[in-house]
Amino acid sequence: MKAIVRTEYGSTDRVVLADRPDPVPGPGEVLLVVRAAGVDRGVWHLMTGEPRLMRLATGLRRPRRPVLGRDVAGVVAALGEGVTGLAVGDEVMGTAPGGTFAELAVTSPDRLVAKPAAWTFEEAAAVPISGLTALQAVHDVGRVRAGQRVLVLGASGGVGSFVVQLARHAGARVDAVCSATKAEFVRGLGADRVLPHGPGADLPGEDGTPAAYDVVIDIGGGRSIRRLRRVLAPRGTLVIVGGETGGPWLSGIQRQLGAAALSPLVRQRLRFFVASEKATELARLVALAEEGAFVPAVERTWPLPDAAAAIDHLAEGRARGKLVVSVG
Ligand SMILES: NC(=O)c1ccc[n+]([C@@H]2O[C@H](COP(=O)([O-])OP(=O)(O)OC[C@H]3O[C@@H](n4cnc5c(N)ncnc54)[C@H](OP(=O)(O)O)[C@@H]3O)[C@@H](O)[C@H]2O)c1
Repeated sequence: MKAIVRTEYGSTDRVVLADRPDPVPGPGEVLLVVRAAGVDRGVWHLMTGEPRLMRLATGLRRPRRPVLGRDVAGVVAALGEGVTGLAVGDEVMGTAPGGTFAELAVTSPDRLVAKPAAWTFEEAAAVPISGLTALQAVHDVGRVRAGQRVLVLGASGGVGSFVVQLARHAGARVDAVCSATKAEFVRGLGADRVLPHGPGADLPGEDGTPAAYDVVIDIGGGRSIRRLRRVLAPRGTLVIVGGETGGPWLSGIQRQLGAAALSPLVRQRLRFFVASEKATELARLVALAEEGAFVPAVERTWPLPDAAAAIDHLAEGRARGKLVVSVG
């Protein structure tokens, strides 16, 4: 099969289209013909090997898994021994940790759900990782309820595009922070108010005006826990999803750990989490989409051989919503 691979950590200069042996599903696994694969920050992390701490799991000197990509939408091509509940020809979506920027991918059935007929393969591939992260940030960790005031930092990116829509659907009033060039896009997602970010830009509550957000969801990083707590209600919840500030070793993980250490000592809830990619979670997300909670906001699609250009588009901060690699 053709696949997008790299054998060393680094930039997209090391990413190539190569011939790889066709994967074979083992017992309890499913072989998919990949039709589309989502691009998210995790692809960039696995390509660069940053945060370097992550290499303990992904390979110390070089990546253990050469094929990039994790989100997938495709068609079941073969079932490994013992797999039930799926059939050859089923259209599915989910994740495949062994790589999805490829013509074929192997994964476990508990990472897959049926693709809603209303979505193209490209739309379905945009949803799993970013959508699940948003679902869990808004509903499980943030516990957003109708009437609450929610602040979203990093609203224009992959995760942010789902967070804004899900928080609005939950009945919250949403203020969204993004760069000025993406303000129209974020307004289109349903944000009640769009605020700029940048070195000189204060958030409501930082400049002395009362702000008191019930929930702050930080996907963009950059601000310290101390600054974020200033805009949060006395019993509000801070959800740290991610952020790319903090250097190549930790890439911001220190903020998450700092929040967890401080939380028991203060009245505000300060939380971080690692998104679950289980099929049961995907089913919750698809059910919300079917009741009109969100649509996948796909900015652009690249053919498989141009996957490196999609990763560069994301890494350079140009993405509005989701990017997708189309296969076949
Ligand atoms: N906890 C988890 O399980 C989990 C799961 C998935 C992703 N993540 C993390 O979440 C983060 C976002 O992922 P993504 O796929 O959504 O990435 P993305 O598509 O690149 O979006 C990131 C967004 O951050 C914004 N941003 C950059 N600098 C900012 C700043 N200083 N202040 C506010 N916003 C800023 C950018 O928007 P503008 O251009 O508008 O500034 C961009 O839209 C990454 O760090 C990723 O590793 C965590």
